[in-house]
Amino acid sequence: MKENKILVQNKVSWDFIADEWFGSTSLPTYGPTLPKEDTLNLFNLLDNKKVLDIGCGSGHSLLYTAKRGAKELWGLDLSSKQIENARKFLSENNINANLFESPMEENPGIPENYFDFVYSIYAFGWTTDLKQSIDLVHKYLKKSGVFIFSWDNPLMQCIEAEGNKYTISKSYLDEATIDLTKGNQAMKLKNWKLSSYINELASAGFKIDKLIEETDKDILTQEHDFTLKYYSKHKAKLINTSFIIKAIKL
Ligand SMILES: C[S@@+](CC[C@H](N)C(=O)[O-])C[C@H]1O[C@@H](n2cnc3c(N)ncnc32)[C@H](O)[C@@H]1O
Repeated sequence: MKENKILVQNKVSWDFIADEWFGSTSLPTYGPTLPKEDTLNLFNLLDNKKVLDIGCGSGHSLLYTAKRGAKELWGLDLSSKQIENARKFLSENNINANLFESPMEENPGIPENYFDFVYSIYAFGWTTDLKQSIDLVHKYLKKSGVFIFSWDNPLMQCIEAEGNKYTISKSYLDEATIDLTKGNQAMKLKNWKLSSYINELASAGFKIDKLIEETDKDILTQEHDFTLKYYSKHKAKLINTSFIIKAIKL
């Protein structure tokens, strides 16, 4: 399937399931099993900063950055329903934001050399064109601006779990396009390798400040749990189920 067909299909599906994901993965949470921003403090100071949220979903991360003092809030999301939910949620909280319904693979009118922070909480890996999406983030940022994003450990899509036994059932190396179904809605996801993220960031003109491959320490001390197979605590004690990259525009 061609990239634009994938975007069309993914948009229909995200529109359909948007309400189920209301506020589900948002700052200070970076993603399932990851340490939170309260512990990591990757943003340092947000006072008077201009921020752009890629894949802003229902707008909960934008509210978080506003509460920490961000001055200008911008966001984009592929899904019209997510943008509608974000507009409503932010206006109920008396927050102004410039929101765009757009794939991250395009610039819908976002200023360049403008932002102190561009971030993406569990959304960036949905890109169908990693190079284009990273190049755009680089353009949006001011010099020395910061890009922070969290995503699934790409190895996770290659592992099958049966209780506490794990098998590598798919190739990590071929960056396969994976069929995902969420709430009976078909979606397709290209499983970019960690090295592809890092190499594309470097070629775009970023310096990697941090790569975080950790499991939250509370989870490490909790009882094993085999019930939720994909993000089980047992698995999260063996590998990081997610990662975060913090990169600086040179
Ligand atoms: C797990 S949700 C992220 C939630 C969000 N970070 C929050 O704070 O609520 C993933 C989001 O990525 C969006 N998305 C998927 N593919 C996208 C694309 N190609 N461009 C922009 N957004 C996309 C989806 O519509 C969805 O809102």
